[in-house]
Amino acid sequence: MKYYSNKTCNFRMIFKQFFDKESCTYTYLVGSEPTRDALIIDSVLENIEDYKNYITSNNLNLLYVLDTHIHADHISGMSKLNEYFDCQMLMGKETLAEGLTRKLDHNDELNLGNFKVRTMFTPGHTSDSYCFLIADKLFTGDTLLIGETGRTDFQNGSSISAFNSLFNLILKLPDATVVYPGHDYNGQSKSTIGEEKKSNPRLQVKSQQEYVDMMKNLNLPIPRKMDVSIPRNLRLGRE
Ligand SMILES: [Fe+2]
Repeated sequence: MKYYSNKTCNFRMIFKQFFDKESCTYTYLVGSEPTRDALIIDSVLENIEDYKNYITSNNLNLLYVLDTHIHADHISGMSKLNEYFDCQMLMGKETLAEGLTRKLDHNDELNLGNFKVRTMFTPGHTSDSYCFLIADKLFTGDTLLIGETGRTDFQNGSSISAFNSLFNLILKLPDATVVYPGHDYNGQSKSTIGEEKKSNPRLQVKSQQEYVDMMKNLNLPIPRKMDVSIPRNLRLGRE
């Protein structure tokens, strides 16, 4: 399937990557010239003022706020952004979150000025995980991180689903596709599909069973704010 054409890449994109130091979360603002329509992916409640300042000082129209999945390590800023900008609050249809403007399906398309946002259902890290493709940029949430992949040991995670989402969908995108992850713990801001295929240790497996066994033995600590974050995020960040 052709996910993007070179033609759309010629339009000027407004792009800003925000970083939340506490949870090491990346939040992305993407917009389109000349309409200045914009969206935000994976907002963090504590950083709302930064987004507001950026949006107002750049005269942007915030149309959408999207979360790639229900986050366990920070509270989403979706509902606050909706209060300020009356933007649509969107997640995939598999989510248990309540109060969304609309739920997205796999392979849906959103209009963002001169760009199209393509949705990709990528369960595994959680059962509601999506990636979003805009021109040559893939926003992977926790499905694919730089040198890692999302853990699969809670929130209905499944390493079998994760393997399928990675190897049968995400990694089939062109090697030049730029990967923008939902987190990074080592100061890296972006990668490419080609680079991850070559050097991400989690992607060097020979079979689904090998991936499942590797993910079973990660022994990761539970996220610190999980007990607070998940219930809040099921309400899109509301109290
Ligand atoms: Fe996550």
